[in-house]
Amino acid sequence: MRKALIAGNWKMHKNHLEAIQVVQKLGYRLDPADHERVEVVVCPPFTALRSVQTVIEADHLLIRLGAQNCHWEDAGAFTGEVAPGMLAKLSVRYVIVGHSERRRLFGETDEVVNRKVKAVLRHGMTPIVCVGETEAERDDDVAEDRVAAQVARSLAGLDPEVVAGLVVAYEPVWAIGTGRTASPDDAGAMAALIRSEVATRWAEAADSLRILYGGSVNPGNIAGFMAKRDLDGALVGGASLDPDTFASVVRYWV
Ligand code: PGA
Repeated sequence: MRKALIAGNWKMHKNHLEAIQVVQKLGYRLDPADHERVEVVVCPPFTALRSVQTVIEADHLLIRLGAQNCHWEDAGAFTGEVAPGMLAKLSVRYVIVGHSERRRLFGETDEVVNRKVKAVLRHGMTPIVCVGETEAERDDDVAEDRVAAQVARSLAGLDPEVVAGLVVAYEPVWAIGTGRTASPDDAGAMAALIRSEVATRWAEAADSLRILYGGSVNPGNIAGFMAKRDLDGALVGGASLDPDTFASVVRYWV
């Protein structure tokens, strides 16, 4: 009942010309049956969104467009920022919000994340809300508390019918870009905890909310995560940059 979702987060990689090539190649490698099974999203840098949108539309690709961030205001004196309405106009469907790199390097708090989540929703897009503990938090045995608090604060004030359509990505910070992954069991257990945390606040939403795992996902380990009952997909960084590799992640059952 929850459709699988595999999203590629390209981070600060690929200029718009490179991005066009990647999405075209990815389009060739996936067939309609793959898209039936998995919703496939690519999240290029802002400068490539328009080009990728154009390729998706011209080639009638079933790949969906995502962005990596946005501001929470609709317009204003915010030099260097991008408004959610600008993304919606480019047919962006998903926006990654609160990625750990944004939290750690750009000072985003749960309160900022919450504002961005609401802004994304206001413009008819779906936030992919990232949560996850640091290595120190894991060592101190507070990972579950930390993740539960991030979920509660990032989604504060939302109605249950809205929460039902959201995507939450569990990304342990120590597993991102490191080649180390959470075990499928640990990631599945954290996803179950996230779902039960959602159930305590938005009972009706818990069954439909989609939960992704992120952190060094690759073609060799994706199937283990997808087998977990509470995991509905993955947020993929490094392994999404090459279209062959990303297509193998998407076709995880092959
Ligand atoms: P990674 O990144 O797959 O390169 O670890 C994941 C992410 O940051 O979303």
